[in-house]
Amino acid sequence: MNTKPERRGTDKAYRWSVYLHLLMAFSREDIDKVRERTDLVELAQEVTKVKRSGRSVMAVCPFHSEKTPSLSIDPARGLYHCFGCGESGDVYRWVEKTQGLGFSDAVELLARRAGVEIAPDPEAAKRRDRRQELVDAVEAAIGFYHQTLKSDESAGHARSYIRGRGYNGDVVDRIMIGFSPPDWDRLVVHLRDHEIHDRAMLDAGLASKSRRGSLIDRFRGRVMFPIYDLRGDGIGFGARILDGDGPKYLNSPETPIYHKSRLLYGLNWAKSDIVRSDRSVVVEGYTDVIAFHLADMPVAVATCGTALGEDHLDLLRRFSERVVLAFDADEAGAGAAIRGFERSIPGDLDLRVAAFPAGRDPADLVAAGDVLSLEKAIDESAPLLQFRIERELESHDLAEPEARSRAVRAAAQLIALHPDPVTRHEYAVLISRRTGVDLDVVSSAVRRGTRRGPEDAGEEREPDPPLTGTERAEQELLRLILANDASLPRDGVGADLFVRREHRAAFELVGPAVAALAPGDPPDLGSVIGTDDSPAAALLRRLAMDDRPLPESQEVLDRLALAAVERKIEAHRTELQSLNPDADDDEYSVVFKGLIALERERRDLRSRE
Ligand code: UTP
Ligand code: MN
Repeated sequence: MNTKPERRGTDKAYRWSVYLHLLMAFSREDIDKVRERTDLVELAQEVTKVKRSGRSVMAVCPFHSEKTPSLSIDPARGLYHCFGCGESGDVYRWVEKTQGLGFSDAVELLARRAGVEIAPDPEAAKRRDRRQELVDAVEAAIGFYHQTLKSDESAGHARSYIRGRGYNGDVVDRIMIGFSPPDWDRLVVHLRDHEIHDRAMLDAGLASKSRRGSLIDRFRGRVMFPIYDLRGDGIGFGARILDGDGPKYLNSPETPIYHKSRLLYGLNWAKSDIVRSDRSVVVEGYTDVIAFHLADMPVAVATCGTALGEDHLDLLRRFSERVVLAFDADEAGAGAAIRGFERSIPGDLDLRVAAFPAGRDPADLVAAGDVLSLEKAIDESAPLLQFRIERELESHDLAEPEARSRAVRAAAQLIALHPDPVTRHEYAVLISRRTGVDLDVVSSAVRRGTRRGPEDAGEEREPDPPLTGTERAEQELLRLILANDASLPRDGVGADLFVRREHRAAFELVGPAVAALAPGDPPDLGSVIGTDDSPAAALLRRLAMDDRPLPESQEVLDRLALAAVERKIEAHRTELQSLNPDADDDEYSVVFKGLIALERERRDLRSRE
């Protein structure tokens, strides 16, 4: 469908220039060679959970929060497609999307992995060097702080703190715990000696400018916990005060390599265990993560000085759906993961709460040598919702009729938030059993809770289903046609743009008459549809009377073109699902490629919005 010849042309020219640029950076042969030598399944495994059954490979899609693993990988062709969100592409696009790289960075990265020599792209090299420069600075600081902890005379207090926490030499070395000396600029001086630029120290959050303009250490007199990214590169610090004033913990500021909302301390060590044991354990902080290491269970992760958020859950979910919250039980149950528990539905997240003996965190338990209680708390974790219901019920005196009724109402309100009716019923049964209140009464309290408010409690009238965005756009296009708007392309509008039958019929009534007129000349509706009283004619009369300003025709056409592409994508997907990649090899491949082309078209259309 060619609804917009002019702009298409420039887009194409633009795409060619990009393409030529890439050709200058890498040869087509190199690009193909690297693609052939790259195992997409292996790549996928590094960032998400992959399930094989026979020759078909499915993965939890890292590009959206879907309910079931619906990303299909075609290992032989190095292609992927997500049936949930429609994201698809090849190994390069995978790396671009999962690592936030541009195309040329992706080519370079995969070439290195595959051991293929290619001509380097100077821009990509610059960006990579930039990241590496900051990582180098942080890692040099990690080494310095670690050495300081071990041998500097200023670190005596820190060493006894470390001993007091029960950290043995093994753990101190594995985690690279350190100490920042209390002086103003020992790190800055050390890093300068090691050819780290001032700029890198500032950008990596290691130093700041003093009022006089000289560089001073950001961290002074603190026990240093280095923070690593998923790959194990050092990217920042959490720093605990020993004595004096200031916050108990000071963390690295946001930097180009340190983003706390998408970072979990300990995930680099824990990720393989999470996949193996099919659950992750979220604890409160650095010291609890380390406690699990001391107990020889490197399974725990913690946020870095921020609340557990949606991005953290998405990150964990790539490795396992089951997430056990193992921090202060009340906090875990109340604030932290409220949004998470709405996502606690089969196939999305299985959020659970581990209850520890009153007032003790994992670090306390390990320090007391009670690893068993730790394991037990994790193994016996309860679903978040159940935990919250029990807390709610406990807070009322269930022996008293009125308190009992308040308890049931409050607990029912919690259940009502759960999206799954089967789960809601299960919990209604639980409340009924725990309170002795009749199941019918509990269920009706839950039903009341699922409605918005008291005003919705009575009979509800079904309103007319509102028009979808596409249907509105179809009507706008009809208005443009009724005005014979001069900006409409002469040959660009076809009946296939209209999905709703009534709209298509209206177009067929008025379209030919308008096509015969000079652009800008509106048709005489009376002579076109006369006394026709079909719904289509009635719609045209109504639209002709509508005197709101006319929309931009290009926008409306883009929107409808997008909808049309989406319909085709849907059809391709349905077809793909009915095909067997092994038996219908060629056909599968053709449809798959068609799908990817359509999705590219969709991306182009979207990028114009
Ligand atoms: P704690 O207050 O228990 O810290 O917080 P701690 O170092 O174990 O101190 P003590 O010895 O019990 O008094 C537990 C975790 O919460 C995070 C840290 O990661 C810490 O390990 N935290 C705590 C912060 O990020 N910022 C804070 O201000 C406090
Ligand atoms: Mn503590």
